[in-house]
Amino acid sequence: MNSSIDLEELLKSRGSYKEAIGLPPRVYNDPDFFDFEIDSVFASEWLCVGREEQVQEIGDYFSAKPAGEPVVVVRNSESEIRAMSSVCPHRGMCVTADLDGIDDQNMLEPTKFLSGNARYFRCPYHWWVFNLDGELTGAPEMKDTDCFVMEDTGLAKIAVEVWNGFIFVNFDENADPLGPSLAKLENAVANYNLDSLKTVDPAVIPDVPFNWKIMIENFMEMYHNSRLHKGIHDWAPSAGVPGAPSSYSDFEPGDGAMFGFNPSLEIDGGFNPTYKALFPPLPNLSEEERQRVVFAFVPPTLLIGMQADSAFWFTVNPTGPETHELSMAYLFPEEVLEIPLFDELLEAAIRGVGYFNRQDIPTNIATQLGLSSRFANRAHYSWQEAVIPQFNSWLVDHYEKSLKGR
Ligand SMILES: [Fe+2]
Repeated sequence: MNSSIDLEELLKSRGSYKEAIGLPPRVYNDPDFFDFEIDSVFASEWLCVGREEQVQEIGDYFSAKPAGEPVVVVRNSESEIRAMSSVCPHRGMCVTADLDGIDDQNMLEPTKFLSGNARYFRCPYHWWVFNLDGELTGAPEMKDTDCFVMEDTGLAKIAVEVWNGFIFVNFDENADPLGPSLAKLENAVANYNLDSLKTVDPAVIPDVPFNWKIMIENFMEMYHNSRLHKGIHDWAPSAGVPGAPSSYSDFEPGDGAMFGFNPSLEIDGGFNPTYKALFPPLPNLSEEERQRVVFAFVPPTLLIGMQADSAFWFTVNPTGPETHELSMAYLFPEEVLEIPLFDELLEAAIRGVGYFNRQDIPTNIATQLGLSSRFANRAHYSWQEAVIPQFNSWLVDHYEKSLKGR
């Protein structure tokens, strides 16, 4: 398979926007390349799966599917956050599979996974029982099986790290810690106090019909803001404002995040038809910070948008060469959740974001189609999308390391 991957061609996508060109179109649709990418990028990187406030109490757990892997994140009896595979070591059933509410109409649909609070996990299939650390504590009718050792059997442990309230997992237990690589981002967004914010209105779209990288590129690049979103994005133009041009952080080897600033004409602007933030500004922001939007990406899965009154975060989980699972949610200070009419204002904010989605999502679907065309070209980039070649460089480093390591 890998003999068909041309490293020389991939290397042309590395470097700054001034000289780099787009990745070869097949990286957005080829099933063989997709398998290679899961292996070279997702098998050893920190993948965001959720937020700390989803597992506040002992026994709280949630399910996630980073890179298609069924995973459970839980606060164990010592109140530590643990991550483990949901795959039962017996016959491969997922211990957090949700079998409730199944009827003749939906029984063939993709399995849903549970979240909630538990004292243990019991596989629904044969009732093997695992404690909150994933250790097997019970397996009925197995005592005559001479080759079976209960102590050696359990849910596979997965490395976990929390950064600013975001929970990341890594399938490589020897991976370097994530935190140090995020120092620049940490510094740039300290005043948003991301760790203290609370997730509101989380939603998951299971089958988004375009490659995961198209989603990342669309979220992060500011070039389209004044074009595709002409009108509704006018308060924060692609180019920035006089005296404060839009910009992206320098992205250097060892950096674990890319981020950009889109200054706005208005203080406390917002992505809704009023152009104004609907909630009070976050308490520690400077005037400069209240006059810009920040887009951040912790590759390969976490996107964070930060604005005057709130933040929002997406996780992007590839499910196939031309599909991904997208989860999204808002982040607000806890006290804002108590303000009168919070629910009504949130509804207005969500409707505001809907205007953008109705332009971005069909654009991304059409881009997927275009990149599968015999006429698909390799991009040249504007300075307003300089983050895409940064992302390409990060990807190509992973591809190269994987190709050379074989
Ligand atoms: Fe957009």
